[in-house]
Amino acid sequence: MMRRIFLMTLMLLFSCIMYAQVTIIPKPVHCKENVGFFEINTQTRIIVPDKSQLSNGNYLVRLLKLNNGVEVSRKSALNSVFFTYNRKLPKEGYRLTVEKNNIKIQASGGAGFFYAIQSLRQMLPVTLKQGSKSSDYKIPCLELDDNPRFSWRGMHLDFSRHFFSLSEVKDFLDHMALYKMNKFHMHLTDDQGWRVEIKKYPELTANGAFRKPSRHDVECNKRAKHDKLLEIDSQKFIDKNGEQFYGGFFTQEDIKEIITWASERYIEVIPEVDVPGHFRAAMDQYPNLTCFGKSGQGISNANRSIPACLGNENAYRFIKDVLFEIGDLFPSRYIHIGGDEVLTENWEKCPKCQKVIEDKGLNNEHELQSYFNQRIEKDLKKRGKKVIGWDEIVLGGISKGATMMWWRNWHPEAVKKALKNGNEMIFTPLNPYYFDYVNGADGMEKVYNYSSKIIPEYFSDEQAKLVKGIQGCLWSEYLPNVKRMQYMAFPRLLALAETAWSPLNIQNINDFKSRLQSHYARFDALGINYALKKIEGIQQNMVFADSMLVTLKTKEEGAKIYYSLNGLDPLIVDSCQYSVPIKIGDNVTLKAVAVKNGKKDKVYRASILKQEIQEAISSEAIAFKGLNYWSFNTPLVPDDYWLTSPENISKIIVPEPTDGNDHSLMYKGYIQVDKDGLYTITTGLRGESYVTVDDCLIVKNTLTDGVNKGQVVLRAGIHKIDMCFEHVKSGSKLKVTFEGEDKKKLSINDLIY
Ligand code: ACM
Ligand code: ZN
Repeated sequence: MMRRIFLMTLMLLFSCIMYAQVTIIPKPVHCKENVGFFEINTQTRIIVPDKSQLSNGNYLVRLLKLNNGVEVSRKSALNSVFFTYNRKLPKEGYRLTVEKNNIKIQASGGAGFFYAIQSLRQMLPVTLKQGSKSSDYKIPCLELDDNPRFSWRGMHLDFSRHFFSLSEVKDFLDHMALYKMNKFHMHLTDDQGWRVEIKKYPELTANGAFRKPSRHDVECNKRAKHDKLLEIDSQKFIDKNGEQFYGGFFTQEDIKEIITWASERYIEVIPEVDVPGHFRAAMDQYPNLTCFGKSGQGISNANRSIPACLGNENAYRFIKDVLFEIGDLFPSRYIHIGGDEVLTENWEKCPKCQKVIEDKGLNNEHELQSYFNQRIEKDLKKRGKKVIGWDEIVLGGISKGATMMWWRNWHPEAVKKALKNGNEMIFTPLNPYYFDYVNGADGMEKVYNYSSKIIPEYFSDEQAKLVKGIQGCLWSEYLPNVKRMQYMAFPRLLALAETAWSPLNIQNINDFKSRLQSHYARFDALGINYALKKIEGIQQNMVFADSMLVTLKTKEEGAKIYYSLNGLDPLIVDSCQYSVPIKIGDNVTLKAVAVKNGKKDKVYRASILKQEIQEAISSEAIAFKGLNYWSFNTPLVPDDYWLTSPENISKIIVPEPTDGNDHSLMYKGYIQVDKDGLYTITTGLRGESYVTVDDCLIVKNTLTDGVNKGQVVLRAGIHKIDMCFEHVKSGSKLKVTFEGEDKKKLSINDLIY
């Protein structure tokens, strides 16, 4: 008897293990799991309704890697996967019924069948090899009904700042398809490189696709010393007369291959040629198309390049030629013309541009760009194309037919303007959808939780239809190789995919995170590099007075932290596993790494130094009270800022820039702390910034490193403080906090002397 109970318990346990939990991402609209399994074996046939579904059938066969046995057929077998049309199902939707003897997939068209296959794919083991046993091919019985929330579920990839190869793109498309994403936005041109062959203008790629190291390359190399993921892919260099050039481009044949590969995965490829700014890779080849015959970087803003002259008909002809060739190459009805961050300083001085402004009765340079956009839009419309542009395109007015891609969270009025004008919109707000930006401890949660904000509250149900969907962006300034690109994209991409597909009322972050756990093994099997949540408690520079305890933690489920104090990468052995706060009494380099399921995340590094207490300043030595404050309508503080007189303030002021562009702020003065001890200073503002205390650099932020912290040991009393913020965006809130050893956070405003 005991033996029977034992056996039954064992069988029950076994069946529980075999009763796989369905962890599909994006979460299907409706899913009812039943008892039992369908087992795919070499007798299984895939029955498609007509020739048009052969490609889906063959795709499934390839996925199963059982191509000696499973085949697509029109003849039914006992044990089959049936594709049948159900024209009542929504576009891209599908119904999947798994029973013990067969699988039925219903859809109104190819996309639905394809997405059903992706759901099946996620229920199969992560590694299917040629010759896997049929017992590996068990799919739980279920009834699943599914269709997407948005028709635009996009990912963007910048090929200009750093380039990605054809095979890297194919892999990425395959990963997008697994999560039912359907738009691939290729940012093919920018200041740092032209990445697509244009037959009419071969110089664009012959010269424009290759460059000497950019400032981003220099920065990547610098950071690569401590973070291998920032190494520039050596395959992307060529030798020109003994000199190394970075670059690469897609031939038109490559592009066709990408489009075919994407369309087999029901992904539409949208090309972007960014005009008339972000256009240096072209203007360097054709400087006569700029206002003063000279390309290069701007004067008021060195981050922006000199645009095409909008008073020069040859520039219009050139841009039209390029866009027409692109339009013919890409079957998408959309063509993205960029339009972001255009430097208008040359247009303001150029007689030809000014003449257009006068002749056409335009009010300013924004309207000049609108005039250009509308001309281009009209020309493209005649060729059956619909224009997309970044949200700047609505500023000076745009026709109703254009689609706005909203990226500047801090310009909500662009959405209002587009709404009033009736433009379709795609939302890709920088925060949190720019995946090249720092992930942080809650990057993925931020993406997921943004979902409820996608449709602004003031939109009616009818107006909500103008929102076609959402998109993640991968700008590649600091993505110098495909592994880092994946690291920044995953797992955030899954949060985006789920919120783009699943209806809002079934979205749940905790449920998502629990399903996500089974996907890490799939990432590993597919060779996808991904980020674990950051380790908290470690920062680049840390200081202490007598001794300190370093507490490390991570919110990554199931991850362990390993550390070292000898400057070497931590060994993944028990003796190096973090368990209790680390006592530090000497100068050391602390390195820490999170490990989950055997996957090592990046190594975090801190230089920890004993610091002498910074003595206070006598109140007699102080020239003024409060802060002296400067504000500039340029993104960088001018070198000769001290020639302008500051305003004296007692609380931080953050003005709005007059022209809506990035601006810069500087504050210099005194603070007073009431206790001796260690202070951690945090600045909460995106952009470049630094804070010095008593002339020592404590905090330094760069655009992509996000919020940084620094520490200093201070004597109670008065100390000198300098704070500088560059690339401040309109609408920014500036927060500087001091945290003492008692962990109490004080605003800088509470400390100003
Ligand atoms: C953009 O990020 N400049 C569209
Ligand atoms: Zn001009």
